[in-house]
Amino acid sequence: MPGGDSRPNEHPPPPVPERPTLPRLRAAVQECRACELWACATQAVLGEGRPGARAMLVGEQPGDREDLEGAPFVGPAGRVLDEALEEAGIVREQVYLTNVVKHFRYRARGKRRIHQRPTAAQIAACRPWLDAELAVVRPRVLVPLGATAAQALLGSRVRVTRDRGVPLETELAPCAIVTVHPSSVLRAPDATARHDARAAFVRDLRRVAEQLRAA
Ligand code: URA
Repeated sequence: MPGGDSRPNEHPPPPVPERPTLPRLRAAVQECRACELWACATQAVLGEGRPGARAMLVGEQPGDREDLEGAPFVGPAGRVLDEALEEAGIVREQVYLTNVVKHFRYRARGKRRIHQRPTAAQIAACRPWLDAELAVVRPRVLVPLGATAAQALLGSRVRVTRDRGVPLETELAPCAIVTVHPSSVLRAPDATARHDARAAFVRDLRRVAEQLRAA
């Protein structure tokens, strides 16, 4: 069933290589059966970027396009993100892009695949992949995009609306800066709200750029 819930102990652990490199992780993640999401996804989508990238941006999970193409943030939200990064002065080579969950969770409605939030169990099952990416990339600035990534990485007390754009302490990187998910810009109800949401997103990414310059 697309997007079903995990039950504890029903799945094997994720086959994360002992000495991870990005190519090894990319190959191994295709074999992951640590939750049920693999069964209805086209493929697993690992992150993309160089091992030494100084910022790691983390979304929720691949969407429809990402599932088909096998790369993160290549759909409509990715376009918003690319433009905002450019406007904030962050070049693509400085960035490693990934997600907390590596398979697309959706509900089928006719021919359409409707995004569904991953469950806490699915996020936990996928976590070893993200930890391995963090160990290989060792980013200077960690940037959770939206509430799912922010709470998975920084804990349930984080609130994106309250905490966005300010450097936060984390054990995962020298600094973390939370911002919204780029799809929230697309969901804004009208042109004015969209303009404002986009401007605020770029403002947060400029704070990330400052941290990268200070590094
Ligand atoms: N949304 C995400 O959170 N990640 C992607 O890769 C695409 C859309």
